[in-house]
Amino acid sequence: MSIPSTPPKSGGYIPRDRNWQPDALTPPYKTSIKRSPQSALLSFPSTLSEETSPVFGHHMLGDLDNDLIHNYAQAGESAIGPRIIVHGRVLDETGRGVPGALLEFWQANAGGRYRHKKESYLAPLDPNFGGCGRTITGEDGSYEFRTIQPGPYPWPNGMNDWRPAHIHFSIFGHGFAQRLITQMYFEGDPHIKLCPIVGILKTQAAIDALTAPLDMNRTVPMDSRAFKFDIVLRGQRQTYFENRKEGL
Ligand SMILES: [Fe+2]
Repeated sequence: MSIPSTPPKSGGYIPRDRNWQPDALTPPYKTSIKRSPQSALLSFPSTLSEETSPVFGHHMLGDLDNDLIHNYAQAGESAIGPRIIVHGRVLDETGRGVPGALLEFWQANAGGRYRHKKESYLAPLDPNFGGCGRTITGEDGSYEFRTIQPGPYPWPNGMNDWRPAHIHFSIFGHGFAQRLITQMYFEGDPHIKLCPIVGILKTQAAIDALTAPLDMNRTVPMDSRAFKFDIVLRGQRQTYFENRKEGL
């Protein structure tokens, strides 16, 4: 598929630059071997419904959907772990904030264990931590949620591979064609440079774009630290996918 050098004049989305995102087949990340396409990709022009829906409203969300410290906890209790705030803006390829975007996020607990039936890591579950939440961006594309900092965990890839601490994100922009699934890492984590999934990124700039810096300006003294993670939908400045090329 050829990539236009200038945005289309009649609206619509700029096609993804598939040379800029990580390659689909990256054997050091073993599951990419079975997940990557076996045939050449076909390209279709996007349709109106792909560019205009779905639309989400704040009325869909519960009061604690953006607070993973409490959204699964018993009354009067809270999740175990370092308390943090994750915040940032969802931007389009021209740098404008994307309002009304649905963000969903999921993560392991402070010990590095997921609440999932296929989880096999021996770290204990936290009875007060579910590990998922969601929020919708404001008028300027900003978002914020509270959680605990997840722990690193081992995974069956090589002989001794550990994932850096990370939070998974799914973002719906203004349409299905803008959907993005990615992961956020934490500044200073020594596992980042050792991880085979992070290793599929082609440049240090790409790794930096997925690594949230500590943001002392948004910390709550004696309560929570803060990390800042901006997300860009579509185009040359788009946030990197976690492992494979998707969408249009
Ligand atoms: Fe994960």
